[in-house]
Amino acid sequence: MSPPVVVSTVSELRARLRPWRSGGGGIALVPTMGALHEGHLSLVRKAAEEAEKVVVSIFVNPTQFAPHEDLATYPRDLASDLRKLEGVPVDLVFAPDPAEMYPEGASTVVTVGGPANGLESDARPHFFAGVATVVAKLLIQCAPDVAVFGEKDFQQAAVVRRLVRDLCLPVRIETLATVREPSGLALSSRNAYLSAADRDTAATLHKAMTAAAGSISAGGNPEAALAVARRQMESVGFTIDYLELRDAETLGAYDPSLDRPARLLAAARLSGVRLIDNIPVIKASNRGGTMAAARYT
Ligand code: PAF
Repeated sequence: MSPPVVVSTVSELRARLRPWRSGGGGIALVPTMGALHEGHLSLVRKAAEEAEKVVVSIFVNPTQFAPHEDLATYPRDLASDLRKLEGVPVDLVFAPDPAEMYPEGASTVVTVGGPANGLESDARPHFFAGVATVVAKLLIQCAPDVAVFGEKDFQQAAVVRRLVRDLCLPVRIETLATVREPSGLALSSRNAYLSAADRDTAATLHKAMTAAAGSISAGGNPEAALAVARRQMESVGFTIDYLELRDAETLGAYDPSLDRPARLLAAARLSGVRLIDNIPVIKASNRGGTMAAARYT
């Protein structure tokens, strides 16, 4: 496939989209911060199944970084991203600069409660207001029929769903399962910060979570299973921000007495690199058995 057309202003974006809108085949948006990897490309393929025209946005959004975070060093290589996009069905890339997205004097911020509370917000209190603001802007600028997000950022996807519902934005949100390395490590642009040795060690995060999820779904005590996983992670050098079992829809405390889906979510640092991951916990009751009555809060 040939390189996608790139536009950098909202007016060019809207001009390109106008004739497509009347085409009737639908427009899908895949919002990214670049540093594209196979996880992003799988979102683009999913977008192409959902709509005739696919737009990928590439914008390292400053408002979701705190001053001490990696905004300055976040990997940026538009030429390399565009080469990667040649292999997937993309019709347009929107790559604005910060002044286009946040003109001088920009002073409107979108804040979301509910699923944005806790977990990531405890360590990164600024994060979801930045994400919600930029995603709201991208959805208004592009006005897609559908937008596709990765489940690796599970809490982010829940926040985006709530934002769309609460603001009545006319867009469908689709999510796609996390793409992993053969070791189980979730693909992430920030994996580039890991040394080769740490990359191997980092797979322990997913291994420990998988074992804990297996134990819980087999009826084991959730607290005990999480304690084992924490020890396993700490023994290879992780510092844990959180490892928690939550209601998969509200992201509130998980109540095993209710027949609701559960999700195990974690954030942990290895040699200063912060990794996040999450996996579903399939209740034994949903597989024909019974779930332990232990209450996890
Ligand atoms: O997940 C990301 O890459 C970003 O948080 C997003 C959704 C593109 C907003 O900047």
